[in-house]
Amino acid sequence: MQPLERLIEADRVHRSVYTDQEIFDREIENIWEKTWVYCGHESQLRKAGDYVTVQIGRQPMIMVRGLDGRIRVLYNRCPHRGVQLCGNRQGNTGSTFVCSYHAWTFHLDGRVKGIPLSHAYDGTRMTSENPECSMKPAARVDSYRGFVFASLRAEGPGLAEFLGEAKIAFDDMCDRSPLGEVEIVPVCHRVVQHSNWKFFMENQLDALHPSVTHQSTGVAAGRVERRLREQGRTPPLYYHYLSTFASSFEQWDSVQTVNFPRGHGILKGYMGLRPDDPDTKEYVAAMHKAYGEKKAEEFLGRSIHHVLIYPYLSVQSPLQQLRVLRPVAPNKTLSEIWHFRLKGVAPAIYRRALWYFNLVNSPATMINADDLENWTKGQWGLESQGGEWVSFHRNHGGDTQEGEVTFSNHGTSEAVMRSQFKAWVQYMGAARP
Ligand code: FES
Ligand SMILES: [Fe+2]
Repeated sequence: MQPLERLIEADRVHRSVYTDQEIFDREIENIWEKTWVYCGHESQLRKAGDYVTVQIGRQPMIMVRGLDGRIRVLYNRCPHRGVQLCGNRQGNTGSTFVCSYHAWTFHLDGRVKGIPLSHAYDGTRMTSENPECSMKPAARVDSYRGFVFASLRAEGPGLAEFLGEAKIAFDDMCDRSPLGEVEIVPVCHRVVQHSNWKFFMENQLDALHPSVTHQSTGVAAGRVERRLREQGRTPPLYYHYLSTFASSFEQWDSVQTVNFPRGHGILKGYMGLRPDDPDTKEYVAAMHKAYGEKKAEEFLGRSIHHVLIYPYLSVQSPLQQLRVLRPVAPNKTLSEIWHFRLKGVAPAIYRRALWYFNLVNSPATMINADDLENWTKGQWGLESQGGEWVSFHRNHGGDTQEGEVTFSNHGTSEAVMRSQFKAWVQYMGAARP
């Protein structure tokens, strides 16, 4: 492997950062197993013993609610001979974890509760006082507005500092509820992408690609919308969701991206979810009542399309959806796509966001399928010897820097990717390009 400094330049990166196993291993160690990783939402764990299993880097973890109501994140590993304690993706374990191999039991906070034939351990180091007999906890667990994160390292910035300005993702989602809260829809779409995780992260704020990659869907939906209007009918909102993808280059370019330290970023612009129908009117009235007109309009009018929390989270807050990455190999990435309900809001408003969630992400989607094809083909291209470099030259030198924040000035600027690689270099401990 070449020194990382030779692989990353200000306007281009070497293809091996997408393909090399050694670099991938270093990413897992230096990024995922150190930083704050999103585990799930508090509403997934309503009662004591509720748990979900989650992967942090290479580590299988369990997020669980204790008898004291606290949420903890523990390694999914029995201290006896290493067997995973929870084999399911989610469930309720009662008041204890019980190992399926030799029946060691553990409290919900991970402390060992019982060891069969405990006298057989007399005189050995494996006594119940030894912390090595208990499940190991994640070094840190914290949450923001119900979204739970864990870090496997005790050192490093706290969650609030890690999120920085990107915490607006969760504020924007929750503030759209008159109660200021969301709850998770407890099933997700899981998609295996045959490409490096960075393809996904770069794509999310790549505002040039929608009108190209999603052209066929966007143009077809726009045609139906026009036909319905000509017939004097109001096209359902879901046609608008799709036709927007085929906006012109100029329209996409007029949107701003804001790029924060640590690789986080926002794609501004907003699809306009305020149709003039009774359900929306009722919803807006509830928001005015809850927050007062000024504040409610501020919440409803935020110009946010996507918020990216580098290196693994894409939050589309106005539509209450979140995509989280779990890298598996240099050329394999699992994404989980979750959907949330605004608390205190009529089902019609939820269904509206659900249309989008399924139109864009479901196995039958015409949108995500196009992206997946690009990323797979991108991976194949970068694994070839057809060239050594990946170009991020678009609008290079044309961004505005204010302190640590980069404003792209052009929606389609590759400032997004340049900013992500600045963060990558810092995480990986290489010199800055
Ligand atoms: S491996 Fe868990 S009790 Fe033996
Ligand atoms: Fe796309």
